[in-house]
Amino acid sequence: MIGRNDECWCGSNKKWKKCHYPHSGEFNSNDTHKGKDLAQEYLQKYDIYVKSQAQITKIKAACKLASKILDQTCAQAQAGVSTQYLNDFAHNLHIEAGAIPAPLHYGKPPYPKSICTSLNDVICHGIPNDIPLKEGDILNIDVTCILDGYYGDCSRMVAIGPINKERQLVVDVSYECLMRSIAILKPNIPVCAIGEVIEDYAAAHGCSVVNQFVGHGVGLKFHEGPQIPHHFNNNQIKLIPGMTFTIEPMINAGVVQAVIDQQDGWTARTADRKASAQWEHTVCITEHGYEILTTWTRSM
Ligand code: MF3
Ligand code: CO
Ligand code: CO
Repeated sequence: MIGRNDECWCGSNKKWKKCHYPHSGEFNSNDTHKGKDLAQEYLQKYDIYVKSQAQITKIKAACKLASKILDQTCAQAQAGVSTQYLNDFAHNLHIEAGAIPAPLHYGKPPYPKSICTSLNDVICHGIPNDIPLKEGDILNIDVTCILDGYYGDCSRMVAIGPINKERQLVVDVSYECLMRSIAILKPNIPVCAIGEVIEDYAAAHGCSVVNQFVGHGVGLKFHEGPQIPHHFNNNQIKLIPGMTFTIEPMINAGVVQAVIDQQDGWTARTADRKASAQWEHTVCITEHGYEILTTWTRSM
């Protein structure tokens, strides 16, 4: 069968997904007329791909692989090991599974590695390097894989030995923000309900919520609509079954401001160099609630 990244059958020399790929013919919501109309409306009005059952099956497989690679890579993180080692370890797991690490060469400037490794005061998009991890570090590892043309995206924190109070706080608060915001997911709630849960919880614990980076639709592409802000916002788009997206709150111990590294164009650090932490799942909205597609479990 033709794959999304194969050449289109029409001879255009374009990838099938960029050409005759039947986006508008493949709508879900139990494939009722109402479901199809709604999916079409979401694509036209909001640029949101509401996925069919067949697409969700493929996205689930990509998510399962991403979370497995994430688990195995996190298990390698310890004092003395470099993030470059973790990168190569994860890269090989992608290749062995017939998958592609989505970050590699992604965006502008092209992202140079296969995973993101964000240490201590790094909020996100940290680039693996040769510096060994040391006791007291907190590290976010973010894995996004492309399997059979479909995407799964997830990240977790690991602690290297005992960590200080500030670091423990952001690790715990960001985890709670993710799980509490997932717990409210169901059809018909607005996108902004997610940011409300997160900002309320973070503020109650004296932390700030990064607003420069957001969660996102994911599945057919790396970053699809809608954006999922983790801070207070007023996005009234209602969640509907078949939407697949990430929630990935970045929580700071100090100020909310991020500074992007001028040299590499990617690494985002807290402006006050205080600790930041993040956990990420890809989720799917179902008829009655939600399903977590990236099934890592917390182990710290
Ligand atoms: N995985 C990140 C996310 O959660 C995105 C990384 S983009 C990269 O959206 F280019 F840095 F890999
Ligand atoms: Co993401
Ligand atoms: Co990610």
